[in-house]
Amino acid sequence: MDPVKIFLPEKDMPRAWYNALPDLPKPLDPPLHPQTREPLGPDDLLPLFPMDLILQEMSPDRWIDIPEEVLDIYSLWRPSPLIRARQLEKHLGTPAKIYFKNEGVSPPGSHKPNTAVAQAYYNKKAGVKRLATETGAGQWGSALSFGCKLFGIECTVYMVKVSYEQKPYRRSMMQVWGGSVQPSPSDRTEVGRKILEKDPDCPGSLGIAISEAVFDAATHEDTKYALGSVLNHVVLHQTVIGLETKKQLEMVGDEADIVIGCVGGGSNFMGMALPYLREKADGRDVRLVAAEPKACPTMTKGMFAYDFGDSVGMAPLMRMYTLGHSFVPPKIHAGGLRYHGDSPILSQLVHEGVVEPVAFAQNGVFEAALTFAGTEGIIPAPETSHAVKAAIDEAVRCREEGVEKTIVVAFSGHGHFDMAAYEAYLSGSLVDYEMSDETIAKALADAGISGEE
Ligand SMILES: Cc1ncc(COP(=O)(O)O)c(C=O)c1O
Repeated sequence: MDPVKIFLPEKDMPRAWYNALPDLPKPLDPPLHPQTREPLGPDDLLPLFPMDLILQEMSPDRWIDIPEEVLDIYSLWRPSPLIRARQLEKHLGTPAKIYFKNEGVSPPGSHKPNTAVAQAYYNKKAGVKRLATETGAGQWGSALSFGCKLFGIECTVYMVKVSYEQKPYRRSMMQVWGGSVQPSPSDRTEVGRKILEKDPDCPGSLGIAISEAVFDAATHEDTKYALGSVLNHVVLHQTVIGLETKKQLEMVGDEADIVIGCVGGGSNFMGMALPYLREKADGRDVRLVAAEPKACPTMTKGMFAYDFGDSVGMAPLMRMYTLGHSFVPPKIHAGGLRYHGDSPILSQLVHEGVVEPVAFAQNGVFEAALTFAGTEGIIPAPETSHAVKAAIDEAVRCREEGVEKTIVVAFSGHGHFDMAAYEAYLSGSLVDYEMSDETIAKALADAGISGEE
């Protein structure tokens, strides 16, 4: 019998991250200063990030060595297993082979520590004492608290207030790793105080929490900011996912035909898919499929334009698929997919037709999650379940067309802290939101975006 769990020996763990910037179909448009709208130089980013990360953000080098200190921490859970989803294949009656790369085995339960550990390391190296960040559902905040703890720096997490109240165990997890968790909007920053003055009961949003964390870092000498997705250096650190996967498939003599991941800001999907970029450009037929929620359809309904990274216009402008920086997505349970924009690298690849986006409503996504849990055993995070849904759809198509494809899924995390979401699905109370063209046109107009630039 072919193996179910494919383990890469620790000695074969990738020792360099893959930087896709030199291999993109076109050079990326530069990020712009939020006030002057001039292209940003490395010095403009120094109040927020250490120089090593800024250089990675703009690096022309295809390979960037992973520091030994980072590899030491990675080895606590990496290489993560690649698993052949035989039970799911059997259940679907598909000739397709389905593999999933289980990033849920990391201590915080998702792919996020692949970059959190690296970011904590480079900040520590630069003498930074504290990192400030935002978190929505809590995955990123717990990953950064974990990374900071291991490198001995402080971590302040602005957690969207509704999640702070609804997800006490994610909050406790951050505190176990020494993170200081603030419900956002908070009275710790001018941005938060202004919002609270107008609306003391404001439930918060990811955009507001980003603004608070950026403000905190910009106004404290010993503090820098860390972002859990979107930026080039974050995507870079996530490429360990795809690099390991390719080696694991090689071990069983297989090759991916369809590579699938879910997209919030784009980091886990890009981490899996970017290592396939060069062979795709060389003509190998490998499809890269990105799944997003219909409630926050950046790639399928947004516009490819310059927009702010946060909701109040303090963060740089990036050219990306966006729904407008002031767009507040409906409260779906995949909290990690509720971001108005996307990684500029991913956005360019969607725009050039290299990546195929698909969008799903949440009931179908949870139905797929239950099928997965009922066959493979693992309960996926609601975010991850979007990728699971896309994989099941592809496998069913293979059955209908009688073709044997190899499907590879970036399984970004487990859903053990998301039981309220499963409860809502099981009780039939989940709402399927679909954004109308009018709603999206209004959100883009509110953000001052009138057309593709
Ligand atoms: C489990 C999980 N998957 C996916 C995502 C989406 O993020 P990204 O698109 O950066 O991978 C998140 C974000 O919080 C997450 O927690």
